[in-house]
Amino acid sequence: MKWIPKKPWRQKTGPVARARAGSVATETEGTQKTLERIISKAGAGSRTQARTWIHNRQVQVNGKVIENPDLWVDSKRDKILLDGKPLRKRQHIYILLYKPTGYITTFKDPEGRPTVYDLIKEIDQFVSPVGRLDLDTSGLLIMTNDTQFGERMTNPEHKVAKTYLLKCNSLLSDEALEKLRTGVELSDGPTRPAVVKRVRDSGKYTHLEITITEGRNRQVRRMIEALDSKVLKLVRTQIGPVEFGDLKIGEWRELESEELAGLIATPTRTRTSAPAPGSRTRETSRSPRRPDAPK
Ligand code: URA
Repeated sequence: MKWIPKKPWRQKTGPVARARAGSVATETEGTQKTLERIISKAGAGSRTQARTWIHNRQVQVNGKVIENPDLWVDSKRDKILLDGKPLRKRQHIYILLYKPTGYITTFKDPEGRPTVYDLIKEIDQFVSPVGRLDLDTSGLLIMTNDTQFGERMTNPEHKVAKTYLLKCNSLLSDEALEKLRTGVELSDGPTRPAVVKRVRDSGKYTHLEITITEGRNRQVRRMIEALDSKVLKLVRTQIGPVEFGDLKIGEWRELESEELAGLIATPTRTRTSAPAPGSRTRETSRSPRRPDAPK
């Protein structure tokens, strides 16, 4: 907190005094933010939850209960307690981004192309993508500062199922789809069995839904290339139990705790055999096509 002697409330006891004086400061860059924001940025909960905790007198700043969520505090200097426990400086954060095409997943691009970090500017903790999505692929991307979680999710042994919708530039035969199901030979070895569903054929194009449990570089594109075809459009629609929900393209949200628990438990959804006739599969119960699903 900067020292500004002309303001009497600043000369007393800092934020607590300001709260009493009913002063609400504007937010600035750096470690000074409203109490509500600092609590939510620390990953303790949403801003609405933070307001509730403050309202319920569960939050103390420098030893005093604070009831003003808009109080300006300094996360470095002020001692903030939630339910009597210090707010951890860096809690884990897990976000789900609906990546559009044209964005790379690295932090900086020497060619100056847009990166996924341009879409999550509000997040003031450094998060990394869990796995990869190509420049030309859109869809779900998890980003987190929890490196252990990231490693677990990208470990092929953990077998997190990832589902994609794709359009390829030729009509694929049933035999070709069967090859995808059993595994195709790539330069870095054969692929694991995949769940493959023909969504539709339109003109000279085939639309597929494919679920894989590996995350090799350009894997889906290379699998289709192994069948002498080419992916024209690719969208990741599901990661383990995590789906789009109401997320719009270019937007992000935090993962729900159930989603996180589901990812950690990783119910592998890969079904290698055909469903019973007439059974209601995840595919048939899917909500309508995403706005950017391959047309
Ligand atoms: N497979 C690909 O080929 N590309 C992606 O971005 C993701 C999976």
